[in-house]
Amino acid sequence: MTLNSNQEKAVHILKSGQLIGLPTETVYGLAADATQDMAVARIFEAKQRPSFNPLIIHGASIEAFKCHVVWNDTAEKLAKRFWPGPLTLVLPRMSSSSISLLASGGLDTLAVRIPNHPIALDLLTSFKGLLAAPSANLSGSISPTQAKHVEESFPDLFILDGGDAVIGIESTIIDLTGPCPTLLRPGGISGEEIEAVIGRIKQSSEAHIKAPGMMKSHYCITKPLKLNVLQPLEDEGYLAFGETPYEGPHVLNLSPTGDLTEAASNLFKMLRCLDQSSFKGISVAPIPLKGIGLAVNDRLARAAVPPASSQKE
Ligand code: TXA
Ligand code: MG
Repeated sequence: MTLNSNQEKAVHILKSGQLIGLPTETVYGLAADATQDMAVARIFEAKQRPSFNPLIIHGASIEAFKCHVVWNDTAEKLAKRFWPGPLTLVLPRMSSSSISLLASGGLDTLAVRIPNHPIALDLLTSFKGLLAAPSANLSGSISPTQAKHVEESFPDLFILDGGDAVIGIESTIIDLTGPCPTLLRPGGISGEEIEAVIGRIKQSSEAHIKAPGMMKSHYCITKPLKLNVLQPLEDEGYLAFGETPYEGPHVLNLSPTGDLTEAASNLFKMLRCLDQSSFKGISVAPIPLKGIGLAVNDRLARAAVPPASSQKE
């Protein structure tokens, strides 16, 4: 593998304890060396993120995680099937792990994943370490799926441009620390796909406690957002799905053919676009509650809750 000059620069910035914008298949990350306390602290500072909200640790191989988390058979099965890919596993943290305690937000667990993006994988391999990386947006805002979204939030950041994020929605998070695997956050891989590999998983009713970023209000947008709308008002932007009688500059279609995977990949980009428009509000068509549609509905539901400072990420 030969690194281009941008990637060499990224490695240098990371080694010196600073942050970069990192493309992944889900959303762009704001990455730092996971073992440097100061670097991890800079993530929290830049994002204005509460320090109790832990970060996902990204690596290039299963082996890279084995001296940091207590690995188990379920993790092995899921990793073999879905990594690299949009699945994050929460596992017990080894007491000897050198990952910054700040990255795990004071929990005795760590969330880990191998991202499926060639630039991220090349960078992780040449960096020869682990990267802590939350989504590269200000805490509580919409996650970035293009390099220019990251630049809007962090104009001075060095960003590796990896094009549009293919999945467009964050990774699925599964907690493997208890007796039964538990879904903490629906995401890029559906619950059904996971159950096909490891059997029944529990849906967490306590996800906001177990995954402290899962607050009710998140993805805060500036305009009022209404869900499951079949007839948008004239002065609203409309996020359609599948066939729709509505057309014009106020209509963006998540997937004209009704493809949920395409809808997930367009969600944040289109929400951002309507939020920046001059319409009074945004209404969204019903999205089927199946497969990755569950994650799309989850993100929309949280974007629709008005932010209260106590609930924000
Ligand atoms: O797709 C993704 O997962 C993206 C890309 C950049 O990898 N990252 C991402 O990170 O979405 P972030 O920080 O926006 O969301 C991470 C979520 C938060 O809800 C956090 O509370 C949860 O993961 N989390 C992190 N560590 C955890 C842990 N040890 N136990 C439970 N939840 C954890
Ligand atoms: Mg986020």
